[in-house]
Amino acid sequence: MNSKKDLGGLGALYPMPVVIVGAMDGERANYAAVAHVGILNYGQPQHLSIGLHKSHRTNHCIKATGAFSICMPSEDLVVRTDYAGIASGKREDKSKLFSTFFSPQGKAPMAQECPVCMDCGLHDVLDYGTHEIFVGEVLHTYADDSVLTDGHIDIGKLRPMLFDMGSKQYWSLGRPIAKCWEVGRGFKGE
Ligand SMILES: Cc1cc2nc3c(=O)[nH]c(=O)nc-3n(C[C@H](O)[C@H](O)[C@H](O)COP(=O)(O)O)c2cc1C
Repeated sequence: MNSKKDLGGLGALYPMPVVIVGAMDGERANYAAVAHVGILNYGQPQHLSIGLHKSHRTNHCIKATGAFSICMPSEDLVVRTDYAGIASGKREDKSKLFSTFFSPQGKAPMAQECPVCMDCGLHDVLDYGTHEIFVGEVLHTYADDSVLTDGHIDIGKLRPMLFDMGSKQYWSLGRPIAKCWEVGRGFKGE
């Protein structure tokens, strides 16, 4: 018997990491906060997705340049990240929000202050009515030494911000609870 309340067709996949999406607006870098992100596969080429409302300036920028970046801000960037999600490049210059860098031959601006940045080439644009889904191929990933452990990105050091639509709040990461592909091995049923 189901004792759960039916909440209708509510998207209940939160929390999601908040990222900073960068794209060039002509000569100017533009940055926007995005939480509707997806990992489409694991391997090479690596494809990621971002879901953006059609009203955003970023959509135009990505389509014009064929490139965007996805940067992971740490908790200490919460104010700047939130601002990137309030102000639109249609009205405001967000180019000074972060120090911009590019990968060699790269067309997408990346935020130096974010410890991890991925430079993406535009692979696909999917029309979802009010939104567009941009699928990118990760061409280069840059990480600060300060968030690496044995060459891997250590999310405990990165301290990403998690976004929850229900409470409209940023949350921080908890602690690890078990090893993946290990803890379940001994399961023998109830
Ligand atoms: C935490 C947070 C997460 C957001 N996530 C998304 C998102 O996933 N998709 C989206 O379309 N807008 C999202 N937004 C809103 C855009 O960031 C915002 O409208 C921004 O002004 C768009 O900037 P632009 O017009 O320069 O592209 C988010 C805002 C915040 C504060």
